[in-house]
Amino acid sequence: MKKNKFFRFLSVIFMFPWFSFADSPPPKINTARVLLSKLRGGDYAHAGDREAIDLVIQKAIKLSPEIIQGNSLDVGSGFGGTANDLYAYGFHHIYGIDIDEAAVAYAQKNYPRVNFLTSDAKNVTAVFEPKFFSFIYLFNVMYAIEDKKGTLQSLNTVAKPGAILAVFDYSDKGKGFPLMDLAGKPIYPIVTTTFQSDLIDAGWEVLEIMDLSDAYITWYENLLNTLSKEKDVLARDFSKEDIDKVEMIFGTMLKWLQDGSLGGSLIFAEKRN
Ligand SMILES: C[S@@+](CC[C@H](N)C(=O)[O-])C[C@H]1O[C@@H](n2cnc3c(N)ncnc32)[C@H](O)[C@@H]1O
Repeated sequence: MKKNKFFRFLSVIFMFPWFSFADSPPPKINTARVLLSKLRGGDYAHAGDREAIDLVIQKAIKLSPEIIQGNSLDVGSGFGGTANDLYAYGFHHIYGIDIDEAAVAYAQKNYPRVNFLTSDAKNVTAVFEPKFFSFIYLFNVMYAIEDKKGTLQSLNTVAKPGAILAVFDYSDKGKGFPLMDLAGKPIYPIVTTTFQSDLIDAGWEVLEIMDLSDAYITWYENLLNTLSKEKDVLARDFSKEDIDKVEMIFGTMLKWLQDGSLGGSLIFAEKRN
């Protein structure tokens, strides 16, 4: 991590002005996301839960077994469950960044072995030294980022030569996408062809692109079935508004996955020397 803490402090103040008021209220957690984590049986907010983690991490280790020894970065680490799961695969030096201060506070409290920090993915160069990471991954985060090329460039700067990047996300199959995520923000799914050229322009070599659209359909069907079965139990802890919101968003996504307008992709790249 960068030693110049003063400048880091300034950049945090700049990004999050409310941070500077000593008596400001604690950041508010998104309760619909807490509901989702509960449904998934872990602190995950990505499709496929643990099965997806296993797929991505096993494949990344196969591509480059030495990534386990270096520093790993979970970009958009959310509630922290995924980053913490990396210990089970033998990783030791795990960092997570997220733009959502409340999610970072939750992750820090629940998974203290991981180093969680509040940062925008595009600003990681203000937080970490160049060439710090051997492995960088994003689980359902890239869809939320409009400037994909700029973000890939920043991630490239903090990656070591030979580092592996894994991007697990929604892919846009050509339909307009007027949907918001659970935080009410617009979403920008990956257009695979554009994303490939963004990766190359940002200094990454594309290793493999996998289409996970069928798996996403199964994962979302399972999630909605669980929601339907657990509704009464969930209603004890969550508002009807949150339950309806999760059902509406994932129901719509499932329809789009089924009619082929939305897909899922897993992309691996390596930092060129
Ligand atoms: C769907 S959640 C996935 C969380 C986590 N990767 C997981 O699988 O559980 C998306 C996360 O990306 C974070 N995020 C969105 N835009 C970001 C950005 N520009 N920089 C850092 N994090 C971002 C959100 O705050 C949210 O926690």
